[in-house]
Amino acid sequence: MNNNPIGVFDSGIGGLTVAREIVKQLPHESIIYLGDTARVPYGTRSKEIVIKFALELANFLLRRKVKSLVVACNTISAVALDKIKNISPVPILDVIAPAVKKGVRATKNKRIGVIGTSGTIQSGAYALQIKKIDPRIKVFSVSCPLFVPLAEEGLHKHQATRLIAKDYLDELVRLKIDTLILGCTHYPLLYDTITEILGPKVTLIDSAQPTIESLKKVLEEKGLISENNNPTYEFYVTDAPGRVYQVTRRFFGSKLKGKIKKVSLGD
Ligand code: DGL
Repeated sequence: MNNNPIGVFDSGIGGLTVAREIVKQLPHESIIYLGDTARVPYGTRSKEIVIKFALELANFLLRRKVKSLVVACNTISAVALDKIKNISPVPILDVIAPAVKKGVRATKNKRIGVIGTSGTIQSGAYALQIKKIDPRIKVFSVSCPLFVPLAEEGLHKHQATRLIAKDYLDELVRLKIDTLILGCTHYPLLYDTITEILGPKVTLIDSAQPTIESLKKVLEEKGLISENNNPTYEFYVTDAPGRVYQVTRRFFGSKLKGKIKKVSLGD
């Protein structure tokens, strides 16, 4: 048994879609969430910069004695995972490997679509991992950069978003994928809009659920599960939290159980 918190980090607030899954699947676990709201988005930045930022975020959480780290950002998972593993004494979960496994299990016609930020798609991480499991699978990747700001602005069900989504996804409809991996923390908010365009026969894979299933397994195997009946939730951001309060509810699914505090990554 270990009651230390789980550290969850993201380029911003999108990772709250992963944190809420911890609350759901592991209700006795305490969480420290860190979002780099001062420097979001990461999805358009170079690999070198994302690695530098990601190590700063991981170190901030490791100093707070977290018992495991959840990289709740696809862009960071795609380009910086090995570097974070090098510095971390605690188990690390990323959001790509669990989504890949679930996607490979789901596809019947061996045609999988992947959508994500430019950084994630350019890294080729999803296609690489899918092909490693089953080289016969065809992977079609599309970056959807406008989805992040649209979700943050609360426009994920807006008519304009539907038009943009159609433009991004029409090609995947033509390519007859039967499974689509939502390779970005923000995309679960666009679930209905995406389903409308791809049709109900395409299975959408959101990484939050399989990631936290994997986390649960790792914690159990390593004897790190908490039995705390009063878990704590701490939320840290790197910019003034004003705007964050307005949007977190959409990503977390309910009001945050705890205050959001601005921190400096050197703290
Ligand atoms: N959290 C990022 C991801 O999952 C999206 C936002 C960003 O571009 O930083 O890729």
